[in-house]
Amino acid sequence: MSANTNEVRVSKIKDGTVIDHISGGYALDVVKILGITGHERRVVTIAINVPSNQLHSKDIVKIEGRGISRQELNRIALIAPKATINIVRNYVVVEKQEVKLPKVIEDMVKCINPTCISNSSEPITPKFLVEGEEPLLLKCHYCGYMLEKQDLLRQF
Ligand code: CTP
Ligand code: ZN
Repeated sequence: MSANTNEVRVSKIKDGTVIDHISGGYALDVVKILGITGHERRVVTIAINVPSNQLHSKDIVKIEGRGISRQELNRIALIAPKATINIVRNYVVVEKQEVKLPKVIEDMVKCINPTCISNSSEPITPKFLVEGEEPLLLKCHYCGYMLEKQDLLRQF
């Protein structure tokens, strides 16, 4: 942690997951990916648009008492490609993982073009090329249809 006096401080967690370096304004999308409704008996801290050195501003999501699955991690990479996943045990970061957005996205999201061959009865795995990271833009390998972040979030 830097000694920047402008740094916004949010409480440390004891056990759980901290998703850090989310691009400013994207925390609620990450929360949706994690399926957090707020009705769980769990402490969740969401910080939006806090000043950061590396990014102009960043978001942070801290969840007490749970980790994240491989599928959740892959989905977060789509929405927040610069995110860092920190696993915390007894107040200490025991594992740090940078997410990575691959160039090709396979079998994670469906094409929203109803006439796309990937939506036919053919056994075809949906496949997209990453045309843009932020804002996210995915091009269907089969029909060329462009999917945006919101099109993905509707499927998550
Ligand atoms: N964190 C937390 N609770 C803890 C430990 C860490 O909420 N018990 C948070 C920190 O506030 C930070 C993130 O987890 O947002 C990563 O912690 P740490 O690795 O200590 O910070 P940095 O070195 O600044 O991380 P990075 O190098 O990834 O920026
Ligand atoms: Zn398509």
